[in-house]
Amino acid sequence: MCGIVGYIGTKAASGILLEGLRKLEYRGYDSAGIATILDDQIHCVRAKGKLNNLQEKLDGEDNPAPLGIGHTRWATHGKPEEYNAHPHRDTEGRIAVVQNGIIENYRELREQLKAKGCEFRSQTDTETIPHLISQKLIAIKANPPNNKTAEASLLLEAVRQAVNELQGAFAIAVISADFPDELIVARQQAPLVIGFGQGEYYCASDTPAIVAYTRAVLPLENGEIARMTRMGVEVYNFEGIRQRKTPRTLNWNPVMVEKQGFRHYMLKEIYEQPGVVRTCLETYLVPDWTPELGISPIRLGIPDEFYADINQIQIVSCGTSWHASLVGKYLLEQLAQLPTAVQYASEFRYSPPPMIPNNLLIGVTQSGETADTLAALEMDKKRRKDETGPLRSRLLGITNRAESTLGELVDRVIDTQAGIEIGVAATKTFVAQLMAFYFLSLDLSYRRKTMTIEAIEKMIDGLRQLPAQVESVLESQERYIEELAHDFVDTQDFIFLGRGINFPIALEGALKLKEISYIHAEGYPAGEMKHGPIALLDSKVPVVTIAMPGPVFEKVLSNAQEARARDARLIGITPMDEVEAAETFDTLIPVPHVDEILSPIVTVIPMQLLSYHIAARRGLDVDQPRNLAKSVTVE
Ligand code: AGP
Repeated sequence: MCGIVGYIGTKAASGILLEGLRKLEYRGYDSAGIATILDDQIHCVRAKGKLNNLQEKLDGEDNPAPLGIGHTRWATHGKPEEYNAHPHRDTEGRIAVVQNGIIENYRELREQLKAKGCEFRSQTDTETIPHLISQKLIAIKANPPNNKTAEASLLLEAVRQAVNELQGAFAIAVISADFPDELIVARQQAPLVIGFGQGEYYCASDTPAIVAYTRAVLPLENGEIARMTRMGVEVYNFEGIRQRKTPRTLNWNPVMVEKQGFRHYMLKEIYEQPGVVRTCLETYLVPDWTPELGISPIRLGIPDEFYADINQIQIVSCGTSWHASLVGKYLLEQLAQLPTAVQYASEFRYSPPPMIPNNLLIGVTQSGETADTLAALEMDKKRRKDETGPLRSRLLGITNRAESTLGELVDRVIDTQAGIEIGVAATKTFVAQLMAFYFLSLDLSYRRKTMTIEAIEKMIDGLRQLPAQVESVLESQERYIEELAHDFVDTQDFIFLGRGINFPIALEGALKLKEISYIHAEGYPAGEMKHGPIALLDSKVPVVTIAMPGPVFEKVLSNAQEARARDARLIGITPMDEVEAAETFDTLIPVPHVDEILSPIVTVIPMQLLSYHIAARRGLDVDQPRNLAKSVTVE
C-alpha cells in the first residue's frame, strides 16, 4: 500500500523519482507527489489521481535538484485529494516526508504537536511525522545529545527520536532543506530497500523502482534507520547503534518489469505461466530421480526434523493466496493425509484456534508483505515463543518474494519463482503457489509414506506435462475467449461453479472478474447452488462451470443442468468433446484432458483470460483496478 522512492546523487532526481513511482504505481494510485531541494527550499509537486497527472504538472519544469523523495498513495487516512497527497511538510516547509504504512498513534501526536503550534494541512496520519521531526530538531539544536547518531547528523538524530515515538507499521523517507546532502530512511514493519550506485543511492518500497539503476540492494530490517549521502549509507538501529550491512545482488533485469509488447501487464503475466510452471519444476524436482536414490523426489530444502512430527496444518492467507491455500488443503489432506485448516489471515489473528501440538502454520502471500498474513504469523510465533516441545512455533512461508518481511519472519520459505508480478490481479503467482503446494504435498507424502512410489511417479509425470498443457490453452483459446468476452460487456452478475479441487478455482474466477471488470461475481461449490444461490439465476446470469472428469464429474454436470433449467447461459470449462458438451453447455471452452488433481493449473487459465478480456472490452484499467493495491500493507 503506497510506494515510496528516494534518490541522492548527482543527476536530476525528479525524472528518476517519477520513473521509480511508475514501477510502484501498483501499490496505490490515489495521488502522487515528489519533493526535491531547489534553491535552499523544499520544492513539492503533488497531484490527485494517477501518476500521469503528476507528470503533467512536472512537464516543462527544469529541476536539476540531485536529491528528492516521491510517493504514490493508496488512501487510508483522508480522502484521495491533493492536500492529502505526500510528501507532507512541517509548518515552516523545511522538512518533507513520504510514508508507507499507518501511524497508529497519530491522533495523540497530532494534538500534542498542534498544542506546540504546528499547523496541519492534511487529514493524514503521515503529516505528524515532519512536524514531530521539526520539534525534535529544535530540541536537539538547543541541547545536542552526545551519541553516535547525533554525531553523524542532527537530522538523523531527529528522525531517530521521532520514529521511536511512532506506533504502527511504517517506512519513511525524509529530506530537509537545512540538510541538503542527506536522505534519511527508516523502516518498521513496512518494506524499504536501499539501492547502491556509484556516488548515488536510491531507496524504494520495492526493487522494481530501482532495478533500472542498480542491482546492489540492501533491504532495511525492522527497527533500522539509515542515513544516505553521496559518500555512502550508514545504517543504525532505532537505539542509535551502528549496524554492519552488506548489500546483495539482485538476479533481475529491468526488462522483467516492462510490458514487452503486451497491452497490459496482466496479459503478459498470464502468458508467462507456462514458463513459471517450468521454472518451478526445474527448481523443485530432483533431476533424474529414481526411487533407489532413497531421497524425496522434491527438493524444497526442508529438513526431516522440521516436519517429521507434524500431525496437523493450518494455513493463513488473503485473497487469491487464500484460494491457492484451499487447493493446498485439498492436496495436503488427500495426498499427505494431514488434516489442514485454511483461515483468512485477518480472522485468524483475532480469533485464533487453540494452540495445537505438532502443528505447522503456513503463511501464503505472493508479496510477502500482506499485513494481515504477517500479523497472523507473528501472533502465533509470539504465543508459542517459550515452547520447545510439541507446542513450539513452526512457520513455513510460501511467497514470491523470499527477501520480503515474510521471508524474515518464518523458519522456512518456499520461493514460488514466478518473477515480479506487476498487474494488481494475481495470475502467475497464483499458479506458482499451486505448484508450491503440489511440491509440499508430494514431499510430505513421500516422507510420511502416504502415497505409493508409483503414485508419486505418476503425479510427477503429470506435473511435467503442465507447461505444454497451459501453453495449449493459451494458444487455442485466447482469441476465442476474446470474442466471447464481447457477449458479457454489459453483464451484471456471474456465477462460477466447481467442485472438489476446482471449487477454489471457481472462487478465483469470480475474484478475478470482480477485481478488474467490476462485475458482481460469486464462486460456489457446484453442489451448493441448489441451497440458495440458484434463486439468483435467470437468462441474464451466465454460469461458468468447471467440469473435469473425476469422482464428481457427473454430479457437476447435473448441477450445471439445474442452472440451465433456470435459463442461465452455461459456459463449460471441460475436456469433453464438442458433441458431449453440446448436450450440457451453451458455450464450450475446451481444456486438455488432465488428471483432476492437477487440473487447477489448467482450468484457471480460461478464467483469467475471460476476466481479462471482459475488463479490457469494458475499457477498464486492467493493471490498476479502482480501489485496489498490489501489496496490502495495512490491516
Ligand atoms: C489478487 O488478485 C488480489 N489482488 C488480492 O486478493 C491478493 O491476492 C491479496 O491481497 C493477497 O496478497 P498477497 O498474496 O500478496 O498476500
